[in-house]
Amino acid sequence: MIRAVRGTRDLLPPETALWNFVEAAVRDVFRAYNFHEIRTPIFEETALFSRAVGEETDVVAKEMYTWEDRGGHKGIGAGAAAILTGEAKSLTLRPENTAGVVRAYIEHKLWDRGLNKLYYIGPQFRRERPQKGRYRQFYQIGAEMLGPPASGSESPARDAEILELLATLLDRLGIENWTLQLNSIGCASDRANYNEALRKALEPVAAKMCADCQRRAVTNPLRVFDCKVPEDQPIIEKLPRISQFLDEACHKHFAQVQEILTAVAVPFTLNDRLVRGLDYYTRTAFEFTHGALGAQNAILGGGRYDGLSESLGGPSAPGIGFAIGEDRLVLALKQSADAVEARPDVYIAPLGDGMDREAARLARELRRHDMIVELGDEKFRLKKSFEIASKLGARFILIVGENEVKAGAFAVKNLESGEQVSVPRAELAQKIQAER
Ligand code: HAM
Repeated sequence: MIRAVRGTRDLLPPETALWNFVEAAVRDVFRAYNFHEIRTPIFEETALFSRAVGEETDVVAKEMYTWEDRGGHKGIGAGAAAILTGEAKSLTLRPENTAGVVRAYIEHKLWDRGLNKLYYIGPQFRRERPQKGRYRQFYQIGAEMLGPPASGSESPARDAEILELLATLLDRLGIENWTLQLNSIGCASDRANYNEALRKALEPVAAKMCADCQRRAVTNPLRVFDCKVPEDQPIIEKLPRISQFLDEACHKHFAQVQEILTAVAVPFTLNDRLVRGLDYYTRTAFEFTHGALGAQNAILGGGRYDGLSESLGGPSAPGIGFAIGEDRLVLALKQSADAVEARPDVYIAPLGDGMDREAARLARELRRHDMIVELGDEKFRLKKSFEIASKLGARFILIVGENEVKAGAFAVKNLESGEQVSVPRAELAQKIQAER
């Protein structure tokens, strides 16, 4: 018996109806903010992630699905093994999508489009320990807004627009009780000063911390804040915070983001411990958390990445974006899958030999009127057809027997009210639609 791999799962109906409900709402919201879809490959060169996300992050150091991909084939003869040519390349299943989007921005010179507003919906892969709300294949709904500085990509107005979009989206999906945690992690020069201060503060205490933190204290001290080891937390609590190291421009930028958020009535909580687990962030960083999700309470995260394009060899392209964990978003929904799953408008019950043919014709006509039609089988007894129709939650059952075909009128029963009438063929669609 072969089962789905640990940390992966099948999404089945009716739950898939919830996913489609979410994605339809999300696409609507993106449309209103003039975002357009981008689809990047599911695997990329490993170097993209190690450079963009950072070698010392948990994602790159521990969680990526990476393999050596041998070069292309050169002819496969009968019985002969493939002859491999070209360099072996290290490839990785994408653990996140920002790096891929920025790579595509550079590769296709998307700066010609000015400010790019791009969104994506798709699977990501991280080899984390599976638990509720945490999977090895999970889905993100994300967006990136980036462009040359002259396109206004650096403006705090863009940060506020992204955050307001997120508040609108969660409200629209009926998700209440979210908290927006907000911080600024400064620019490159603030970070250098801050790293120095962190290194100093960690020097006398690092030996008491976990092995990861001891290493991070030297190589990338900011990553100490990603530590989940309970014994290390009192030490981390006492470390200096980035908020004390912001230069004037970063301070002002962050203050302007907050001013706009206040003006549009999006509530937020300042959290100067929030540094996000990926290295590319600068300035505004944020997470939305939700109480009902348990330990994995971050429903989404994001922030600014003003230097990412340059670090991948591109031109200056300040940007800001986010990714929602779609698995977690669906967990936070109040709707039940049954409430959003579409049910048939009509179940067609052919009755007796030769009636499958007549039923198929009727189904074709009704489906052309945009109706959801389920088709029975002439071998089924009427009782069985009724049972299936009510199990499916069909609104109507339409009976197709020899007499009905001859008369050109069909018995239509409303399965909710119990009313049954005979309806001429030409009026069937109208009758069913009227009571939909
Ligand atoms: P992230 O915080 O690593 O950011 O992931 C964003 C969201 O993806 C998390 O808040 C969580 O909801 C979901 N997520 C992450 N890992 C898992 C998992 N193993 N199982 C289920 N859900 C998960 C990023 O990925 C950035 N690329 C976001 C971004 C876009 N920043 C700027 N632009």
